[in-house]
Amino acid sequence: MSTLAHKHKTLERNVSLLGLFAFLAVIVGGLVEIVPLFWVKTTVEKVEGVRPYTPLELAGRNIYIREGCYVCHSQMIRPFRDEVERYGHYSLAAESMYDHPFQWGSKRTGPDLARVGGKYSDEWHVQHLVDPRSVVPESIMPPYAFLKDRPLKAGDMTGHLTALSRVGVPYSNEAIAAANADLLAQADPEADSADLLKRYPKAQARDYDGDPKTLTEMDALVAYLQMLGTLVDFRAAAGQEQPR
Ligand code: HEC
Repeated sequence: MSTLAHKHKTLERNVSLLGLFAFLAVIVGGLVEIVPLFWVKTTVEKVEGVRPYTPLELAGRNIYIREGCYVCHSQMIRPFRDEVERYGHYSLAAESMYDHPFQWGSKRTGPDLARVGGKYSDEWHVQHLVDPRSVVPESIMPPYAFLKDRPLKAGDMTGHLTALSRVGVPYSNEAIAAANADLLAQADPEADSADLLKRYPKAQARDYDGDPKTLTEMDALVAYLQMLGTLVDFRAAAGQEQPR
């Protein structure tokens, strides 16, 4: 028997040694497969239109997470015909590149929300969140009427933007400094939103909850829902990429 085969025999007959070598093989293989993804720039392909959340959208997203909406709703349209026909173009990696943590979800008690923006009016969303069964009689979604009465905690957006910028979301120093003012500008139909739009193209500035006098958590949550899936213009991109 050759010495190599002999050595292999020793390895195969010794459980601890075999375990150790198997472990090393998995470690090396894992490093080779996974580590490059952290450095290669093209892991997430840049897509025209995707931008970081505005402070108001971000505040709404924080409420979405706080209330556990992700327990019943996914934000990830898979590239299958039934999903694409129901929800629209399948989700692109770039569309959640500024989500920390991402909201793909893992269960659909309710429908996918990745492209719910613009599907309904603000009034519909407010009515649906206040009393889901008043607009969808068979709904099993719980009501969130209290959001309309809770003033939005609006003063700490600088901290939220700073935290996200530390994990790679490209908020400029200027955007961070203006975070609290930008939040107010987006929720006030009378405010000058020119700066906001320059920083966040396609941001929709208006009163969202039907009560322009008070800024509530409802305003922020509806602002977030209304922007979901609206940043990428798939009709413009249809020339390069077919929806299905
Ligand atoms: C217990 C599960 C559950 C939770 C939690 C839940 N939903 Fe729902 N949601 C549903 C169901 C079921 C539907 C479908 C019936 C309906 O439209 O009410 C739905 C529908 C919706 C729709 C309409 C989607 C469409 O395309 O028609 C929106 C928007 C929505 N939910 C937002 C939210 C938000 C925001 C939260 C958190 C504040 C939330 N949901 C929490 C179950 C849930």
